[in-house]
Amino acid sequence: MEAEIDGEKLSDEELAGIIVLLLLGGMDTTAGLTGNAFLRIDADPALRRRLIEDPDVPESATEEFLRHDTRCRG
Ligand code: HEM
Repeated sequence: MEAEIDGEKLSDEELAGIIVLLLLGGMDTTAGLTGNAFLRIDADPALRRRLIEDPDVPESATEEFLRHDTRCRG
């Protein structure tokens, strides 16, 4: 809100554009990743067990969920 470009504050229109970009960029992506990950975990009990039992798995699994399911399957 306080940002300046060349010493000038951003206009309301510019700020509104940035906020809309943040909201739209953040909502569908995270909802899609979360939903797709839950569907995959639900379909694969062995993966579910690995995610629960090995604390190292969730981080790399998140990358794999993103890589493998690129479209919203919900
Ligand atoms: C699983 C979650 C997310 C995925 C898969 C994702 C994916 C992406 C991808 C692929 C890009 C394009 C990057 C590029 O062109 O180099 C991008 C850009 C962007 N994302 Fe995300 N995103 C996620 C979460 C979020 C969240 C939570 C926010 C905001 C709170 C956000 C805001 C943005 C914005 C503003 C850009 C444009 C950046 C720019 O103009 O350089 N994203 N995102």
